[in-house]
Amino acid sequence: MDIRLKTFEEYEAAYEQAKNNPSEYWGKIAENFQFSKKWQDVTLGDFTDGEIRWFNGAKLNITENCLDRHLETRGDKKALVYVANDPSEKNQEFTYKELHAQVCKTANMLEELGVKKGDRVCIYMSMVPELMFTVLACARIGAIHSVVFGGFSAQALAGRIVDAECSVLVTNDGGLRGTKVTELKSIVDEALKEKDCSCVKNVIVHKRANNKVTMQDGRDLWWHELFDKASDKHTAPQLDAEDPLFILYTSGSTGTPKGVVHTQAGYMVWAAYTFANVFQVDPGESSKDMYWCTADIGWITGHTYITYGPLLNGATTMMFEGVPTYPDAGRFWDIVEKNKVTHFYTAPTAVRALMACGDDVPAKYDLSTLKVLGSVGEPINAEAWHWYNEHIGKKKCPIVDTWWQTETGGILISPLAGLTKTKPCKATLPLPGIIPVLVDDDGREIGETMAEGKLCIKHPWPGMLRTVYKNHERFMNAYLRTYKGYYFSGDGAKRDIEGYMRITGRVDDVINVSGHRFGTAEIENAIGKNTAIAESAVVGYPHDVKGEGIYAYVVTDLKDEAEVTKHINDTIIKEIGAVARPDKIQIVSGLPKTRSGKIMRRILRKIAAHDFNNFGDTSTLLDPSVVEEIKEGVK
Ligand code: WT7
Repeated sequence: MDIRLKTFEEYEAAYEQAKNNPSEYWGKIAENFQFSKKWQDVTLGDFTDGEIRWFNGAKLNITENCLDRHLETRGDKKALVYVANDPSEKNQEFTYKELHAQVCKTANMLEELGVKKGDRVCIYMSMVPELMFTVLACARIGAIHSVVFGGFSAQALAGRIVDAECSVLVTNDGGLRGTKVTELKSIVDEALKEKDCSCVKNVIVHKRANNKVTMQDGRDLWWHELFDKASDKHTAPQLDAEDPLFILYTSGSTGTPKGVVHTQAGYMVWAAYTFANVFQVDPGESSKDMYWCTADIGWITGHTYITYGPLLNGATTMMFEGVPTYPDAGRFWDIVEKNKVTHFYTAPTAVRALMACGDDVPAKYDLSTLKVLGSVGEPINAEAWHWYNEHIGKKKCPIVDTWWQTETGGILISPLAGLTKTKPCKATLPLPGIIPVLVDDDGREIGETMAEGKLCIKHPWPGMLRTVYKNHERFMNAYLRTYKGYYFSGDGAKRDIEGYMRITGRVDDVINVSGHRFGTAEIENAIGKNTAIAESAVVGYPHDVKGEGIYAYVVTDLKDEAEVTKHINDTIIKEIGAVARPDKIQIVSGLPKTRSGKIMRRILRKIAAHDFNNFGDTSTLLDPSVVEEIKEGVK
């Protein structure tokens, strides 16, 4: 399959072709995949009507493209290498033939339970191979997977189960991360007690941690009992190009998390194309390239760049159960050395955390197999970029700073490894098919080259979300109506004289904490569930390791700070999960509001960042003394 561009000139030519004639370009790219029926139209719909379709009329099965079609050419090549939390535990390895068999077994197991095309399956698992089998098994039978990250609480899980009306849930007894066991099954039990979660007819429990769990008769079933009897032969049904493939929930600036919907053919083409071109992994049958993305499959990065992208290309993908600092801060580098990792893809927050452990840690390991380094999830700061380049890449590995979002399905702006000249902290240039523009507050495009503005995309691309689950209006409002005729990303960006992009971060009320996305409203609503807190306002502020930290201003009658912190943390852990706990809490007597009652977040953001100047126009403030008090409080 040749979807891979090999020189910068080829990239430039492809960019022009995709821009001038998208139907012709993507039609040609799609020829490289297995379809049982060809499409009638390559692309339909635009950002005004919001009815986006790609490869309309085609029939396919994405898992045949991930697995079956590789069996003849690379059946014995490693597809998945699994590294366990405990360094003394041997890796589990699956060749393409073996992974195919495991996925077929899992597909048969789900079908035995009555799971059909279009049904929603919730997956709440730690990083075990069975998580990947389940994702692919759903895709194989046309069930829509909804993976919920194992760090989310029972309440958050319940909300997602109800929204998607899942009929089956797959989980572990417990997840192993560092020295901790996450009791996933008991969190599931708690979630399923919630109102409206009765849609879940069966819970399949994979045994990993051997912690004690209770199994509910008639509802809960052991994975091994079903899986062991399931056949490893499965004929893949043919699905429509625009049938939903998965739902993944993500936070926005308002309301509850949105169920982002991705569909079959467009997502497949985008995942495969972007993986091939950005990372330049050699997919050959005897290639020794070992690609490792450190994300969790619970996030979009794990969907597209641990699971679908690498497998669609016939590459070897590695999956890690644990955390970067267990048993010590050298764990990532130890894994790179032991497994001869060639392509390494992680988040700036991990780079910063490991940088803080000292240069002598990576220096102890043989990192000479590395060829390409990747970064994703948040803007990478200069210090982290240079450290990554010098101490990990030894100045010989291109760094691909990949900008994208849950909604975009795959990477939109990034260097292509070895092809694009990189510059520190810049995501550089758009992939073919992506026309980024910077707009001002009124939605007018600014500048040809050097400019700063809000980042929008001009035309639909194959991998973009199609809708918000059961709420197309919300999709239209959140992405397509802010600036008419454009997809609005919610990010700000700067473009330099060469057209290189630097993404500066969110310009909406979304906070990016260690690459995890939260809406300020979502956190405020959670805090508001605590009766001891009268009111709160949450903003992001610069944080050395996390990128952004969560700063909560709260109004309460309680005087004792420790008590307030405990109240808030307990509520957040219950409503969202420990990852969303505020880093700083300030008790205030009131919030700075306009006469119409709107909180002036701009001021709160400045104070949280210790920037006490230039508050801008404060003449609409109802009570300016509140600002003085908050300023004094933080100092
Ligand atoms: C938001 C999307 C994309 C998978 C992981 C996060 C920020 C992502 C970069 C980057 C600067 C980045 C943006 C974006 N972001 N990658 N390379 N440089 N910012 O997915 O949870 O959907 O979050 O992450 O702010 O909007 P997500």
